[in-house]
Amino acid sequence: MKILVTGGLGFIGSHTVVELQNEGYEVVIIDNLSNSSVEVLDGITAITGTKPYFEKLDLKIKGDVQSFFKKHNDIAGVIHFAASKAVGESVNNPLMYYENNINTLVYVLQEMKQLNSQNFIFSSSCTVYGQADELPITENAPVKLAESPYGNTKQIGEEIIKDTCKVNKNFNSIALRYFNPIGAHPSTKIGELPIGVPQNLVPFITQTAIGMREQLLVFGGDYPTRDGTCIRDYIHVVDLAKAHVVALQRLLSGKNNSNFEFFNLGTGKGSSVLEAIKSFESVWGKKLNYKVVGRRSGDVISAYADTNKVNNVLGWKTKLTLDDAMESAWKWEQKIRNK
Ligand code: WQD
Repeated sequence: MKILVTGGLGFIGSHTVVELQNEGYEVVIIDNLSNSSVEVLDGITAITGTKPYFEKLDLKIKGDVQSFFKKHNDIAGVIHFAASKAVGESVNNPLMYYENNINTLVYVLQEMKQLNSQNFIFSSSCTVYGQADELPITENAPVKLAESPYGNTKQIGEEIIKDTCKVNKNFNSIALRYFNPIGAHPSTKIGELPIGVPQNLVPFITQTAIGMREQLLVFGGDYPTRDGTCIRDYIHVVDLAKAHVVALQRLLSGKNNSNFEFFNLGTGKGSSVLEAIKSFESVWGKKLNYKVVGRRSGDVISAYADTNKVNNVLGWKTKLTLDDAMESAWKWEQKIRNK
């Protein structure tokens, strides 16, 4: 079966391509290489032994999307990662985010209409919940006013998919709301490739440890949490990738209860920033140079998943720990810097 993975050379996309190939799927990747590199293809091939078909294509160009789907009308499922995902950047450049995250989604959905099987997995985010009133966060938690244009594009994306499902009963979709994806493939052949100064915690930790950054700044030590720092649900990217295959198989086998379902993808365990640092230090074997400073605007205090629905309905649960993720992130950092 042929599966299209848009943004398939990106961080989560590439790990998902590996897991799809491990399950015997034929994978076709579209990526515009705006936030990834074509070398990731070699990494995927080195892990699975099979080079996925890759087409450099910008989904913002509607004509190109139309010709692609004309060529590949035997696609059995689409996993849609292609989007910009930096929260801070989205605040400074909202229209770029609405164009790149919304127009592309619309063009893909429009062209999927001509496919015999219309199965769609959407890369969403726990950002849709904002600061949830109750923890852990279930899928019944209300979607709150987005704190950033990035988060808004995920909310709007889900609404677009829902409206598509209402008028097209042949269209089946699952939105996966990620918590905090971290880590890298244990083979060190693929991993996160942040461009410039990393906004996210774990790449900043590993770049500090390897000596690229002087010191990690911990944004806020006075939050109402057990140690004053923010709490997040850090999920190993390999566990996250496997969840996409399970979700796709749910649609391919017609086991979905409705044609729009959504699941929280997390470990169910919250870790504070200081606990994440401690986990990394236990893997590294040294003390990390960090300083607690003022809060970062837009940060929620605490977010971690209630995993009942994803465990019992989707039939998936995480197997890897925070330490596993930190170990893989550190091995990857060393690999790419020793190049
Ligand atoms: C985690 C914690 C920071 C960097 C965002 C998006 C989410 C997803 C993941 C795209 C927070 C603290 C961070 C640093 C720090 N992105 N931190 N020093 O903000 O939870 O989630 O990235 O899909 O949608 O919202 O992740 O890694 O940026 O921050 O203290 O140098 O680490 O304050 O408490 P976040 P993060």
